[in-house]
Amino acid sequence: MNAKTALIIGATGLVGNYLIFKLLQSDRYENVITLVRRPMHLKHPKLDERIVDFDNLTRQDVSGANDVFCCLGTTIRQAGSQEAFRKVDFVYPVEVGKLALQAGATQYLLVSSIGANAQSSIFYSRTKGQVEAAIGELGYRSYTVFRPATLLGKRKQFRLGEEVGKVLDFALSPLTLLIPPLRKYKGIQASKVASAMLNIADQEVPGQHILESDALQRF
Ligand SMILES: NC(=O)c1ccc[n+]([C@@H]2O[C@H](COP(=O)([O-])OP(=O)(O)OC[C@H]3O[C@@H](n4cnc5c(N)ncnc54)[C@H](OP(=O)(O)O)[C@@H]3O)[C@@H](O)[C@H]2O)c1
Repeated sequence: MNAKTALIIGATGLVGNYLIFKLLQSDRYENVITLVRRPMHLKHPKLDERIVDFDNLTRQDVSGANDVFCCLGTTIRQAGSQEAFRKVDFVYPVEVGKLALQAGATQYLLVSSIGANAQSSIFYSRTKGQVEAAIGELGYRSYTVFRPATLLGKRKQFRLGEEVGKVLDFALSPLTLLIPPLRKYKGIQASKVASAMLNIADQEVPGQHILESDALQRF
């Protein structure tokens, strides 16, 4: 099989950081493009870092990509408003998807979230459901959505929601042995999500696929 070019957005984040190192180590990719808003200070012969303005993306920014990996995201608290949150979690992933498809990409892998539902009354879950659907409508040959529960891993800044999630996760653990449907709510290591993305990208199964968090635990 020919080596491909990966494009990653959100490479400086928790999942994205694991993923970029896996992509750089993978024989399947001869180039790894990353779209960032400031330099990552990472050097690698395969790395093609592109500093972009996410509000004014062009086809040139995404040129050359075969597989698009989206690990972008923020919180409403960090973004400052629902509108600013939606830009990062909806507008940018869709815009990159549109441009990359026009430029020849064939596969899109999106980190969404457990509970994503375009009809949800919860703004976060609704936005995640809407971004899943909007990318699904673009027409990628292969499209996979990853829906992790609380992400586990070392993060520089404190996030209350995640800390609450970790406590609930600890309480939930014994119950998941007795009640298997609860397994999808168990926290998941961000590195596992990244491994799942790489593994699924390698298979490039045509069509649209959704992997819930319990399925991601297997990677
Ligand atoms: N945290 C959880 O427990 C959890 C659970 C389920 C699903 N998820 C979802 O999983 C995905 C990955 O989460 P994560 O925790 O790995 O993400 P993260 O660590 O918060 O990283 C977010 C990434 O998005 C970029 N970003 C944020 N705001 C931006 C902006 N205004 N313009 C351009 N780039 C921006 C960041 O770049 P900079 O470095 O430039 O800021 C970073 O690369 C997200 O979609 C998240 O919603 C998270």
